[in-house]
Amino acid sequence: MSSGGRCDRPEISIILPTYNEAGNIKPLYSRLVSALEASGIKCFELIFVDDESTDGTIDVIEALASSDPRVRLIVRRGERGLATAILEGLKRSRGNIAVVMDTDLQHPPETVPSLVEAVRNGYDIAVASRYAKGGGVEGWSRLRLVMSRGASILAWILLPESRRTSDPMSGFFALNTRKLKISAKSGKGFKILLDLLYLNPYAKVMDIPFTFKKRSSGKSKLTWRTMAEYVVQLLTLSSMPKFLAVGALGSIVNLLVFTAVYRSTGIHELSSILGFEAGLIHNAILHDRFTFANRAKWRREGFLVRLLKYNASSAGGIATGVLTSLILFRLAGVEPLVAQALGIGAGFIVNFTLASKYVWR
Ligand code: GDD
Ligand code: MN
Repeated sequence: MSSGGRCDRPEISIILPTYNEAGNIKPLYSRLVSALEASGIKCFELIFVDDESTDGTIDVIEALASSDPRVRLIVRRGERGLATAILEGLKRSRGNIAVVMDTDLQHPPETVPSLVEAVRNGYDIAVASRYAKGGGVEGWSRLRLVMSRGASILAWILLPESRRTSDPMSGFFALNTRKLKISAKSGKGFKILLDLLYLNPYAKVMDIPFTFKKRSSGKSKLTWRTMAEYVVQLLTLSSMPKFLAVGALGSIVNLLVFTAVYRSTGIHELSSILGFEAGLIHNAILHDRFTFANRAKWRREGFLVRLLKYNASSAGGIATGVLTSLILFRLAGVEPLVAQALGIGAGFIVNFTLASKYVWR
C-alpha cells in the first residue's frame, strides 16, 4: 500500500474533518485514493482533522497513516466545530490546491478530480453543488429539502457575496490556497465556504454538480443548534445589518449638524441640506471601513467618487420610498402611515442594493 514519497511537496491537500466516523474511514480512503490515482493525481496528502472522536476513528486513521505516508492526522484536544477543524487543516496543508470534503461518504470521492481540474484551470474556488444542473440529493425528507432551500434563500438575501455559487452551503469544494485569503471572520459555524466567499468577494467560482448521497454509517452532527449558528454566521457576515446601523447613526449626525447650522445661521434650507450631506459623508466613511470593508482591497475609485455615487444612490432610495408611499396611498387605498412605513422599507432595500452593487462593489 505504501506508495508515498513520489513527490517532495504535495500538489493537492485533501482536508478531511472527522467526528465519530470510524466505519467510514477505510472505504473513504480507498475510494479517494483510487479516484485520485485513476485521474493521474499522484502528488497529494490526506489531512484528517479529528476532534477527539470517541468511537475509535483515531485508531483507524493512525493505522492508515502508519502504512501510507500521505496520510496525516491532526487531533484537536478540547475543541469542537466543523469550520474551525477545516481551517486548522487548511493552515497545515502544503498543497497549492486544497479540497475540503466530509468523511461520511455523502460527498462522493469520485467528484474530487473534477474539482481539482477546475482550480488547475484557473478557478479560485470550485464548488461541488447539489443545486447545479445535474446535481441533487438522495433520500432527503420533505422537511430537510424545505429547510435547505430556505437556508439558501436566506444566504442569497443577506450575503450577496454568496450568489456566485448555486450551493453556498456546500461543504465540498476545492480552492487555490495561494490566491485566496483563508480565515473565518465569523469565528465558528458549520459553513466555512460562506466565510471564504465573503473574504474573497471577487474570487472566480465554478460549480460542479454532484449528488449528495445518503449517509451509509454513523450519525449526522447537524442539530438545531447548528442551524441557529448558521443564521448567526450569516448575520455576522452580512453587510445589511451594518448598513442599517450606520444609517441610524447617520441620522443622528444629520440632526446634530442641522441644529448647529440652524442655531448659528437661522436659515432652514441651508441647515437641512448640510445636515443631510453630513449624514451621507458620515455613512460613506463608515461604509468604506466597516460595512463593506471586505471589499476594500479591490477598490479602484477614490473616496470622492464613491461619495458622489452614494449621493445619487441615496436619492434613488428616497425617490423609491416616496413613490411607493404615494402609490400605496393614492391608488391602493393603504393607510397613510402604513404606506409611508412600507415606503421606508422599499427605499431601504433599493438604497442598500444600489450601494452594495454599484457604489461599494
Ligand atoms: N473535526 C470535526 N469536528 N469534524 C466534524 C465536526 C466537528 O465538530 N462536526 C462534524 N464533523 C465532520 C463529520 O464527521 C463529517 O465528516 C462532516 O464533518 C459533516 O458532518 P455531518 O454531521 O455529516 O453533516 P451533514 O451531513 O448534516 O452536513 C453536511 O452537509 C451539508 C450539506 O447539506 C456538512 O458537510 C455541510 O458542510 C454540508 O454543506
Ligand atoms: Mn453528513
